[in-house]
Amino acid sequence: MKRTVLITGGAGFIGSHVVRLFVKKYPEYRMVNLDKLSYAGNLENLKDIESQPNYRFIRADITDKVSIRNVFREFGVDSIIHLAAESHVDRSISSPMEFIQTNVIGTTNLLNAAVENWTGDFTGKVFYHISTDEVYGSLEDGGYFTEKTAYDPRSPYSASKAGSDHLVRAYHNTYGLPVLLSNCSNNYGPNQFPEKLIPLAINNILNEKSIPVYGKGENIRDWLFVEDHANAIDVIFHKGKKGETYNIGGNNEWKNIDLIRLLCRIMDEKLGRPPGDSEKLVTFVKDRAGHDLRYAIDSGKLKKELNWEPSVTFEQGLSKTVDWYLANQEWLQHVLTGDYEKYYETQYLSR
Ligand code: NAD
Ligand code: DAU
Repeated sequence: MKRTVLITGGAGFIGSHVVRLFVKKYPEYRMVNLDKLSYAGNLENLKDIESQPNYRFIRADITDKVSIRNVFREFGVDSIIHLAAESHVDRSISSPMEFIQTNVIGTTNLLNAAVENWTGDFTGKVFYHISTDEVYGSLEDGGYFTEKTAYDPRSPYSASKAGSDHLVRAYHNTYGLPVLLSNCSNNYGPNQFPEKLIPLAINNILNEKSIPVYGKGENIRDWLFVEDHANAIDVIFHKGKKGETYNIGGNNEWKNIDLIRLLCRIMDEKLGRPPGDSEKLVTFVKDRAGHDLRYAIDSGKLKKELNWEPSVTFEQGLSKTVDWYLANQEWLQHVLTGDYEKYYETQYLSR
């Protein structure tokens, strides 16, 4: 095998798309997917590639030093693409410690393992850390996030991701660890857990349940199709300059309420419902605490230096996403377990 890539969080939403891309595109790489299978991790996401000879799955927690040391020893890991994280802002508001544990302690544990195993010879090694645009804060007065924007995280989730980003850069500066970082905007697409806005709304529209829109629905996000994010990760992994950060975005800003209206239109069409039918489900609910107003990414550096651009328009991406959820209702049923019902009740029924 030409390379052994340890990918963390590969059973999650974005991770599963990255695993699939690399397993298929690089048969000469051994892809080791390490995931603890939290509520968000699902091996069903990888059914189509699980028996490929260049793929291995290891169930482990990134905070567990012994497991990580064993994986490095057993497989001779030379590259890491680190996606494992607690990723949902609302959960970080109700349970911040899990975010510190996985996002900060877990990332540091992986950094330590990389330094211990690779010190003395960093040739051909890379620690690629996947992060978020939320570390830059909220754009209340216009403008865009660039790689030079000062960090200003405002939720326990974004603060824990900011902490992990700082640690990755600190290990580069202090120990010379060859690192790459990317900070991406909101992803959507197949296999996203229905706690995030788009799959939650798809599921509720499908079941004619109310669609909870926080506050007045005025908050703005910059949406990117998940396969475009996976392609950007491929490009940065292979061509990115060590020590550098790349912002990834869709150049595709939507107010939440406008996005939900578009989604309702698409779903009415696909479900053969009268125009305007699903929009009646929109319900404005109590706002998220500390809700960031606007995120918008300037991904000019990635375009200029590595020639990456999104390939899918929002209408195409949303349409593909809805088709996927309609064709994979069994997948939805499997993730909508008793735990999901409990979460949904606590998160929404008291709002
Ligand atoms: P996700 O919640 O769908 O998946 C996270 C995965 O990590 C799951 O498979 C889970 O089982 C695993 N995991 C969690 N804790 C773990 C631990 N302690 N040890 C091992 N595995 C663990 O998340 P996602 O949306 O796919 O996000 C992946 C990464 O991309 C995260 O680092 C997130 O911060 C970042 N990101 C996400 C988005 C987005 O819009 N979803 C945008 C930008 C960046
Ligand atoms: O910007 C990148 C980030 O995008 C990632 O780092 C996070 O992992 C990912 O979860 C996402 O964070 P957001 O908080 O932006 O995504 P979410 O889907 O939770 O919410 C999108 C917007 O919709 C946000 O303004 C809150 C709002 N919202 C969300 C939910 C779940 C609602 O109005 N109603 C809802 O029920």
